[in-house]
Amino acid sequence: MLAMLALIYWQTVIYGTRQTDETIDAEITGLAEQYRQRGLAGLVAVINERSNPERGSSMLYLLTDQRQHPLAGNLSRWPDLEVQADGWMRFRLSDDGRRDSSPHIAQATSFVLAGGVQLLVGRDLAENTAFRNRIVTALVSSGALMLLLGLVGGIVLSRRALARIETINRTGDLIMAGEFSRRIPLKGSGDEFDRLAQNLNAMLDQIERLMAGMRQVTDNIAHDLRSPLGRLRSRIEMALIEEPSTERYRDVLQQTIGEADQLLATFTALLDIAEAEAGSPRAKLVPLDLAAFARDLADLYEPVAEEKGLALKIETAAQPIEVRGDRHMLSRAVANLVENALKYTPTGGTVRISVTTDGTMARLAVADDGPGIPPDERERVFDRFYRLEASRTTEGNGLGLSLARAVVRLHGGTITLGGNGPGLVATVSLPLAATAEQFERSMPVNNRR
Ligand SMILES: Nc1ncnc2c1ncn2[C@@H]1O[C@H](COP(=O)(O)OP(=O)(O)OP(=O)(O)O)[C@@H](O)[C@H]1O
Ligand SMILES: [Mg+2]
Repeated sequence: MLAMLALIYWQTVIYGTRQTDETIDAEITGLAEQYRQRGLAGLVAVINERSNPERGSSMLYLLTDQRQHPLAGNLSRWPDLEVQADGWMRFRLSDDGRRDSSPHIAQATSFVLAGGVQLLVGRDLAENTAFRNRIVTALVSSGALMLLLGLVGGIVLSRRALARIETINRTGDLIMAGEFSRRIPLKGSGDEFDRLAQNLNAMLDQIERLMAGMRQVTDNIAHDLRSPLGRLRSRIEMALIEEPSTERYRDVLQQTIGEADQLLATFTALLDIAEAEAGSPRAKLVPLDLAAFARDLADLYEPVAEEKGLALKIETAAQPIEVRGDRHMLSRAVANLVENALKYTPTGGTVRISVTTDGTMARLAVADDGPGIPPDERERVFDRFYRLEASRTTEGNGLGLSLARAVVRLHGGTITLGGNGPGLVATVSLPLAATAEQFERSMPVNNRR
């Protein structure tokens, strides 16, 4: 703004000065013309006519003889001229004895004509000065107004912004002080601050959810490991109270080893889940024919199914369905689905394993006709240690599905549970090898989940 005001000032002042210069030049040209045509007498007549005060002109004239006696013009005597750098002369007008006593500055140029006659042509700069003063006043006051408005506007705007940030800060303080359910209030205007608040709130929600999940998991772990440890301890205690007998001790130690193995298996499963969820570096994904993989698994579980009086059926296409995967991890995941189906389906039921593809994804489904899982429980069974009420009597930790989901996600796939008339269908979807390669290329190496 200052630069703009300065520019306006310079342009106006330069324009005024140039106009004065041009007016004086034109006047001189006119007078010279008269002098040439009509001689000194003509010049005197023209000057007298032009310097008539009734014309109200700001032009100044003085024609003097060689002894500096005025011959014509509106100045009473020859002024003290001061030559300026621009070639013009300046003098103070009040010195000339005119009735206007305030000191004006005038700009002039002078000539010596034939016979020592001197001519001075000039212009009173009073109007220019007045104009310049008006411009300066206008520019200074508009500058001051702009400064004031700018300051007030700036203060108001920054106050508003800072107030919003302060609200966020205060909420942050409260949350850190333990009020975890606090959220940043929204103004509803949808501006950047609202969006920031929304994002932070969403982040806080997610953190709270994760924390709740974590707490649930730790609680579950503590609870689920406490009972077997308690059983183990009381068994040993009982053996010590009873009559000492090598036979009995051997028996109890045998059982204790069994329980300790169970505990170790649980820990291993927990660690495996954690590792898979963190994007295990052990997962070396290699091309794998999912159809052959499923047939191998079915062969492996055939005897188990037979023993329990279940029919295990496998339906796969003859041609290979290639996915990229870690054989060991995938078989642990899928084996748990088959084990679940065999475990929870009553004798006489049928378990069906099928592998299909739709061009981008390979689908491995394990379907049974057992009791199934109610729709509203189908997400929760993926939580660590979560088991349906009805399954509490069967052996298991409730970790199998958690591990399966972590492993499948590590492979860039999904696992879902659905109904099967009576029964359950667990479906694992994995990207086909061609799609999987693209997926891997687009992901950073240690982030393949
Ligand atoms: N095919 C199924 N039919 C009915 N219920 C099932 C089936 N599969 C899983 N469930 C239910 O989901 C729960 C969680 O399954 P998950 O495989 O995670 O644990 P688990 O089988 O109980 O124990 P683990 O697999 O650790 O030995 C089971 O306890 C059971 O209640
Ligand atoms: Mg299981």
